[in-house]
This record gives sequence, structure tokens and C-alpha cells, in this order.
Amino acid sequence: MAKILVTGGMGYIGSHTVVELVNSGYEPVIVDDLSNSHPKILEQLTKIIGYKPIFHQVDLCDEKAVANLVATENDIAGIIHFAAFKAVGESVQHPLKYYRNNFYSLINLLNGYYGKSVNFVFSSSCTVYGQPEQLPVTEDAPVQPAQSPYGNTKQVAEEILKDMVASGSNYKVISLRYFNPVGAHESALIGELPIGVPQNLVPFITQTAIGKREKITVFGDTYNTPDGSCIRDYIHVVDLAKAHVSALKLAEKDSFTGYDVFNLGTGKGSSVLEVIAAFEQTTGVKLNYQIGPPRPGDVEQVWGDVTKSSEKLGWKTELGLDVMMSSAWEWEKYINQNPL
Ligand code: UD1
Repeated sequence: MAKILVTGGMGYIGSHTVVELVNSGYEPVIVDDLSNSHPKILEQLTKIIGYKPIFHQVDLCDEKAVANLVATENDIAGIIHFAAFKAVGESVQHPLKYYRNNFYSLINLLNGYYGKSVNFVFSSSCTVYGQPEQLPVTEDAPVQPAQSPYGNTKQVAEEILKDMVASGSNYKVISLRYFNPVGAHESALIGELPIGVPQNLVPFITQTAIGKREKITVFGDTYNTPDGSCIRDYIHVVDLAKAHVSALKLAEKDSFTGYDVFNLGTGKGSSVLEVIAAFEQTTGVKLNYQIGPPRPGDVEQVWGDVTKSSEKLGWKTELGLDVMMSSAWEWEKYINQNPL
């Protein structure tokens, strides 16, 4: 069984990817500093996959700790690098915290495994496109000046990885640009676990529905979109997780060399009001929502062209907005009754 290092493997997307790696016959090795995840996720994963996965609690910003990790895990075939800070607003407030964490960890990891033949899958974001001129946005659309230090870390990390490949290292690298991952595993044992007040739409919806929040505000209804609210490409986290396995399989091929980048979305946009309506319809729960002013820095509308992903990764999404909403809701109910 090929071992795959999953940094940030205790987090939202990381944990779902651990499950899909096991389903595809890989052996995940989780690395996480638990700064934005809960230690009990390991038990939850154990319930799903049937055994306790290897877990190293390591801060990837600590160079010595990474050297130890490399010495211990010296026979890995691949790395999926999720571990990073991701709150846009916080990154504007604390840029150095973001630059330090997201770059030191990447650099230490690349340095640690330098020279070994390792396939590297990087967790990037559609944030690199800003507001694209053409929709759906393709991978060769221009990368826009970053709107936040968080976005900048994704753009520069992609450049660092390209430079690594160009330098003749043995890394093969695939950057995956995620659109908006939502939903939870069908077992409802893992899901998104925001610390404090959620910043993202779907956890805010589910927390409002369960009564943790009084109401949800739709950030703006006068955008130039059919119903006036912003449009995003929401993708079920399990579909997203499966794309990481497809990326590893592509990188394993001798015919794949160097570096490539793929959009991970459904190829279809949904507005905030459509998401709210889908939640209400799928779950039968009425949401207390109000229309508020636009959120500064928000992109009006973005959804991805996924032709390249479907052709080269041989991957496409299977789960629709209804399953995204129902699974997010099942997870919210579970975690409310079984706090970690
Ligand atoms: C945000 C980041 C993106 C990052 C992603 C990580 C920005 C501008 N973008 O994406 O770079 O990769 O998070 O998770 O911050 N909304 C409401 N009410 C709410 C919350 C959200 O109406 O209470 C709306 C937003 O205006 C947006 C949509 O819901 O139109 C999705 O918002 P969110 O879940 O925060 O994701 P993004 O802003 O797309």
C-alpha cells in the first residue's frame, strides 16, 4: 500500500480525503498540529475506516520537527498538503501570521522531502482568479492580484511549486483550485468544524437552523446576478476528496511530468438565495434570514470550467446541492448531540 502524507489531515477537507484514500487502497499518514482541528477526529476517522490511521502531531513550521517526520516517514509515495490557515478576514488583520504559517510549512515540507520521488498535491483555491472576466473560469485565466494575504499565500505557493519542478527536483506537482467545498461525509461522523462564529455560508446556515445563531444575513442582493445575490460553485466535500485520489493517480503515471493545475468545482453556479432555498427544501427547516449589505472584498460571481479536470483527471462530481445541504444538516445535528 502506497503511503500518502496528508498534512492537515484532521481538518475538514483533509479528513474526508483520508477516507477516500483508504477507499482507494492507499495508506494515509496524517500530519496535523491540531491548531484548527479536534483530536477526536482521529476516533471519528477510525469509526469510518475501521482502523486507527497513523497520526503525527507536528507543527510544519518547526524545521527540526519536520526533519524528524521525514526520518520517520521516509517511504512515502505522495504528499497532499492541506495544512494552512484559511480565514480571509483574519489574514487581513494578521498578515504575518498567515505568511509565516502557510509559507514556512510549505518550504519545510518541500525541503524535507527534496530529492525523493514524491508526488505532491497542493490545496489551492479559486480565489486566485479574483473576479474573472469570463465565466466559467478556466485554468488558464489570468491570476489576479490577491485581495488578501490568504489569497496571496495560495498564489505564491503555486509559484513556489512551479519553481521547484523547474529546478529539476524529483517532485511532480498538481495544484488543485477548489471552488466552495460544502457538505459532510454520509456517515455524519466528520464534517466542517468551525471554531467560533462561522465565516462561510453553509456552516452559518446549519448553525442558524439548529438555533446556535439567531439569523443569517445574505451579504447583498443588488449584485448583477439573476436574483441579486452572489454566485459560487459549491462542491460536495466528498467529490472534492475523491479528486485528490484522481490527482495522485495522474501524477503516478510516467507520462505525467512536471506541474499542472486543475479546477475542482461542479461547473455550475448557485446564488446565496438558491443555496438557502435548497437547504429549506431538502431539510424542511425554515431559515431565519435577512438581506444585509455586501461583504467587503466579496467576488460577485464565480464558477469553474471543469473540462480539463474531467478530461485529464478522469474525475467529475456526482453529488448535487440537495446532498450537500442534507449532509451538512445531518452533520450539524450529529455534532450538536455529540459534541467532541
Ligand atoms: C471564501 C474566500 C475564499 C476562500 C474560502 C475558504 C472571500 C472573499 N473568499 O470564499 O478565498 O478560499 O472562503 O473557505 O472571503 N455569505 C452570506 N452570508 C454569510 C456567509 C456568506 O451571504 O453569512 C455569502 C458570501 O457573500 C458569498 C457566499 O455566501 O457570496 C459564500 O461565502 P463563503 O462561504 O464565505 O465563501 P467565499 O467567500 O466564496
